[in-house]
Amino acid sequence: MTLLDGKKLAEEIKLEIKAEVDQMLASGKRAPHLAAVLVGQNPASKAYVSTKIKFCEDVGYGSTLITEDENVTEERLLSIIDDLNQNDAIDGYIVQLPLPRHIDEERINLAIRPEKDVDGFHPMNFGKMAQGMEAFLPATPYGILEMLRRYQIPTEGKHCVVLGRSNIVGGPMSILMSRKGYPGNCTVTLTHSKTRDIGGELRRADIIIAAIGIPGYVKADMIKEGAVVIDVGINRVQDASKKSGFGLTGDVDFAQIKDKCSFISPVPGGVGPMTVTALMLNTLKAAKKIH
Ligand code: GUN
Repeated sequence: MTLLDGKKLAEEIKLEIKAEVDQMLASGKRAPHLAAVLVGQNPASKAYVSTKIKFCEDVGYGSTLITEDENVTEERLLSIIDDLNQNDAIDGYIVQLPLPRHIDEERINLAIRPEKDVDGFHPMNFGKMAQGMEAFLPATPYGILEMLRRYQIPTEGKHCVVLGRSNIVGGPMSILMSRKGYPGNCTVTLTHSKTRDIGGELRRADIIIAAIGIPGYVKADMIKEGAVVIDVGINRVQDASKKSGFGLTGDVDFAQIKDKCSFISPVPGGVGPMTVTALMLNTLKAAKKIH
C-alpha cells in the first residue's frame, strides 16, 4: 500500500507557486490577491479560513479577510460581493460556507463574478467544468485530481465509485472522473443515501472517492483487493488522547483497509491540504488572466 501524502504534495506545490509569484514580481507585476468572507463564529469555518490566509502569506500572495457578524443581512453581504467583484486589486475571493440560515446561499453564489470565483461554485464555472471547458474547478475535486496526477495513478477505463453527491465534492468529482483526458476516462458510479447496495457498488470499484461525512463508513469487506481509496471525510470525533478532546477521522476505516488497497489518502494529511492548495492554484490562474 502506498500512502497518498497530501501534506508532502502540498508543500511541493507551495514551492512551485512561490516560484511563480517571485517571477511575477520580478517582471513588475503585483502578487496574486485572495479575499475571504467569513460570517459568524463557526469554529471549523474559522479554522479553514485562517489556513487559507496563512497559505497566502507563505507563498507571497496578498490577502484580505472580511469578517461579518452572524446577524449580517443578505443585502450587506451582496454589497460586499459587489465591491469585491469590482475591486481590481482582488483577483479571486471566496465566501466561506455554511452561511447562517437567514442568508440565501444560492443568491450569494450567483452574485459572485465567475472570473473571480476561485471556489468554482458558480453555475457558470460548474457548467463549463461539466462540458470540459476551461473553468475554475472546485477546490476539493481539483486537489484530488492533482493528487492522482502526481502519484501517476492510472484512471483510463477504470471503474470509479463516488460516495456522496454534494455540489462541492461528489457531484463535480463524478463528472471530472468521467471526462475525457487524464485523470479521467473512468466509468463512474455516483452513490448516495438512496443507493440500494452501496457495499455491492464499492466492491466493483477500482477507485473509490468517499465523501459522505460518516466516520469509518467504508470497511474492508466493501472494497476489492488493490483498490485506490481517496478519503475526503473530515469528521470531528472524540479522542481522549488529544489535548483538545477531539481528533479528525475520515469516511473510511483506515486501520481495516490499509493492507487491502493499493493507494490510500490518510485523514488528516491527505485530501485536506490538497484542497487549500487547489484554491491557491485557482487564485494564481485568476491573477494570470487579469495581468
Ligand atoms: N466550506 C467547506 N468547504 C468549503 C470550500 O471549499 N469553500 C467554501 N467557500 N466554503 C467551504
